[in-house]
Amino acid sequence: MKKLFLLSCFFVLISCKNENEKSFEKSENKTPTELGRELFEGKGNCVACHQVNQKIIGPSIQDIAKIYKTENGNIVDFLKNDANPLVDPSQYEIMKTNFAITKSMSDEELKGLETYILSFSK
Ligand code: HEC
Repeated sequence: MKKLFLLSCFFVLISCKNENEKSFEKSENKTPTELGRELFEGKGNCVACHQVNQKIIGPSIQDIAKIYKTENGNIVDFLKNDANPLVDPSQYEIMKTNFAITKSMSDEELKGLETYILSFSK
C-alpha cells in the first residue's frame, strides 16, 4: 500500500513537470531574432528592398546594422518615425512609405526587427 502511494506521488510529479515544460515552450518558442526575421520576410515585406549583403532599393541589412552599431542608433525609434535617418537620408522618402506598416506593429515586433537587423553587424 505504501508503495502504491509513493508510486502515485511519482506520477503526479511527472505530470506536473510535463505541464511546466509545455507552457515554457509556448512562451519561449520564438526568440526576438526569429520574430524579427519572420516580420522582415513576411508581414513587413522588408526583403523587397533590403537584402542581407547587397544594396538593392534600400541599403543592405549588414550596412544598416554596422551604421546603427557605430552610431548607437535606435531602430525602434526610427521605425516609429521618431528618429532621423542615419544610413542614407537622400533616399529617406522611399523608406518613409513603410512607416504605415511599422507604426501598426507592437513594441515587441519592432524590437524583434531591430534585434534581427543588428544580428548582422560584425
Ligand atoms: C520600398 C522599399 C523599401 C521597403 C519595402 C523597406 N525599406 Fe527600409 N529603406 C529603404 C530605403 C531606400 C532606405 C534608405 C533611406 C534611409 O536611410 O532612410 C531604407 C532604410 C532603412 C533603414 C535605415 C534607416 C536610416 O537610419 O537611415 C532601416 C532600419 C530600414 N530601412 C528598415 C526597414 C524595415 C524594418 C522594413 C520593413 C518593415 C523596410 N525597411 C522596408 C527602402 C525600403
